[in-house]
Amino acid sequence: MTKEEVLSLLLSAGGPVSGEQMSRQLGVSRAAVNKAVSQLRREGYEIEAATNRGYRLSACPDRLSPVQITKALEGHPWQTRMVVLESVDSTNNYAKNLTASGAPEGTCVIAGRQTAGRGRRGRGFISEEGGLYFSCILRPGVSPQQLMHLTALSAVAVCDAIGEVTGLQAQIKWPNDPVINGKKVCGILTELSLVAESNEAESVVVGIGINCNQPAFPPELSEIATSVLEQTGKPVDRSALAAALVQALSRMNRELMTRKEAWVGRFAARCVTVGKDVVILRGETQTPARATGVGPDAQLLVEYPDGTTGSVSSGEVSVRGMYGYV
Ligand code: BTN
Repeated sequence: MTKEEVLSLLLSAGGPVSGEQMSRQLGVSRAAVNKAVSQLRREGYEIEAATNRGYRLSACPDRLSPVQITKALEGHPWQTRMVVLESVDSTNNYAKNLTASGAPEGTCVIAGRQTAGRGRRGRGFISEEGGLYFSCILRPGVSPQQLMHLTALSAVAVCDAIGEVTGLQAQIKWPNDPVINGKKVCGILTELSLVAESNEAESVVVGIGINCNQPAFPPELSEIATSVLEQTGKPVDRSALAAALVQALSRMNRELMTRKEAWVGRFAARCVTVGKDVVILRGETQTPARATGVGPDAQLLVEYPDGTTGSVSSGEVSVRGMYGYV
């Protein structure tokens, strides 16, 4: 345990902290502190040692760190509800199993890699090491019809978290794909369980996959996908991003019903689809239209070539000039 405790002290110090002080605070010997520092260094933490000033943590390895995530969430009501895994089949599957055994709202399953990541419409989601794969359990206690805007607002929360940690201004391709410079940086899959008698949403799992430190994508994806690393040229600290995401999602969840209009407004402000020509796909039928705005449930408002208007609330829309059908 000393290793985690030393890491935790170094993280909260933010500057140099002496070995003497750490051994006093943790009630362990100086030798135990030195051993913990060596272990952390072997794991990739860069810890500088300056005479008379002590140790300073200067860089963390690109690995999800439960200590770092919970430290960044100190005082947050969801702090103790983080499940951090190196690898898992799908964080959504794992979270859905947890909901069945009564896991509370705010339980988050966070992984550095998925072996069977799932996307929308039964597709797979490539989930190599380097990304952030994240599922959050919510228990909104309202009907599914009242949650039409949930996935769209989750996309806003993702953009907030990315902006906070990296400074990048992500936009949203309707209905809910965060994009940077026109390329997809994140996919979101929301899954609902209903209470049979009342038809209320028993629980919702919001699944989020963010391309973080993948240096490149396979040729079939390189035109349509990007990562934070590709955009900024430097790796993003995935633990910091995970913690920022927890905070952003919990804000969104708190205001989901009470400040819906403001959040849908923020969605509309980030939505790159508005003003573009789109093709609406319904089954086999393709109808051209122009996207003119965003409705109160985050549906897409459109105008058809004959001047009539309508709105689209399912994901059956493709945007010309950006990546293909989503
Ligand atoms: C899409 O763009 O089609 C949605 C992709 C959603 C992927 C995320 S990654 C975390 C969570 N676990 C999954 O298996 N899927 C979601």
